[in-house]
Amino acid sequence: MPTFEPVLTKYVDEPNGYTLDFYVQHGGYQALRTALGMAPDAIVDSVKKSGLRGRGGAGFPTGLKWSFVPKDNPKPKYLCVNADESEPGTFKDHVLMERNPHLLFEGCVIACRAIGARTCYIYIRGEFYHVQKQMEAELAKARAAGYVGKNILGSGEDCDIWIHRGAGAYEAGEETALIESLEGKRAQPRLKPPFPAVVGLYGCPTVVNNVETICNVPLIIEKGHEWFASIGPEKNTGPKLFCISGHVKKPGVYEAPMDTTLRQLIYDYAGGMRHDRQIKAVIPGGSSTPVLLPDKLDTHLSFDGMVAAGSMLGSAAVIVMDETTSMVWAAKNLIHFYKHESCGKCTPCREGVDWLYKILDKIERGDGEPRDVELLLSVCDNIGGKTLCPFGDAEIAPVLSTIQHFRAEYEAYITTGESPVTSDFRAAEPVGAH
Ligand SMILES: Cc1cc2nc3c(=O)[nH]c(=O)nc-3n(C[C@H](O)[C@H](O)[C@H](O)COP(=O)(O)O)c2cc1C
Ligand code: SF4
Repeated sequence: MPTFEPVLTKYVDEPNGYTLDFYVQHGGYQALRTALGMAPDAIVDSVKKSGLRGRGGAGFPTGLKWSFVPKDNPKPKYLCVNADESEPGTFKDHVLMERNPHLLFEGCVIACRAIGARTCYIYIRGEFYHVQKQMEAELAKARAAGYVGKNILGSGEDCDIWIHRGAGAYEAGEETALIESLEGKRAQPRLKPPFPAVVGLYGCPTVVNNVETICNVPLIIEKGHEWFASIGPEKNTGPKLFCISGHVKKPGVYEAPMDTTLRQLIYDYAGGMRHDRQIKAVIPGGSSTPVLLPDKLDTHLSFDGMVAAGSMLGSAAVIVMDETTSMVWAAKNLIHFYKHESCGKCTPCREGVDWLYKILDKIERGDGEPRDVELLLSVCDNIGGKTLCPFGDAEIAPVLSTIQHFRAEYEAYITTGESPVTSDFRAAEPVGAH
């Protein structure tokens, strides 16, 4: 296994690793002390120089995003931490919030100082009830110790953090839908522009950042932007959390630099394939990213590496499927999720995803017709690039990429009325989690 000393998840296996006492004993909140002595612009500059790119999916440079917040706007400014984490295959932010909440709180206060905000909302996925309760207890301790709240560590700086539990909708993770939901409305996206950095929560300048993104901020301040920039390939810097699930021996969350290859993650970190079977396909970055074939296993798991391979790093959630997987079933399974989660605001997505599901279901039942593959492509064509938010492009990715790589499998299914994949792929035996 490649040698890399984890920093974000260093203490995840320590029973008390999540507590304030443990965090402080192991150097926690020192970065905050340093940041309180820095000018806000210097913090932004350091994050820019580190090369940190957002870990929520799009990989947008974090320091640049922060610098879009207008300084001359007299309105309050807000930081919203996107802890909605609902993409199938993605479970890294949950680990950080459960096992290292003070790293997140420390990052929130530093980020607020950088952008001139005094209020931070952590918008947490509705289902994460246990994590929310534990975080609230730890937050109260951080407030009592002077790391959060009024006059932080006697600096005269105020910054409070509030944890808001969402209703459990995938679409609430889209940044403008998240803002709508925080305002007490349905989690449906807004038209952009204006972008949240200028008109966000309550019409005020707002930065929305992913949990893992914010957790990197104290590390950059404490260890220096040079240290951060030295990890991983150029423009894809810093430690990264990878979720791996599916037909591997040891699914879980692994921390590694982004010059790690898909092959290393699957075989060195996750123990290889269950029953030592062959890999059929890999979804590299969560359900919204196109499927790759095993010929791309030696590609770096970086933002740019995955784009060059024809997919995306997304939320870095690698889903591995072995040779016994029916790709028609896999596509239908994912579309079932998107059909359930479409917010319904725009017609191509709301109606289109229903059509995709109906056609895939028909094929899977053995009632497929020869025209169905073209029909699926035509429906995708009427969704892609024609929706209000990126959900539309996300929902067509599994259909388009499975047809691109496995069209013969679709056609054989339609011709014979049965899956050409004969093994019982659903009879998955339990596997040990990392
Ligand atoms: C349908 C949809 C769901 C999303 N869900 C999440 C999510 O759960 N967590 C997240 O951080 N970003 C999610 N995003 C991306 C956010 O809109 C936004 O880009 C991100 O929170 C920005 O943070 P970053 O710059 O730190 O990556 C989602 C986007 C879409 C379109
Ligand atoms: S693309 Fe889908 S999720 Fe996004 S606004 Fe339209 S209906 Fe809602």
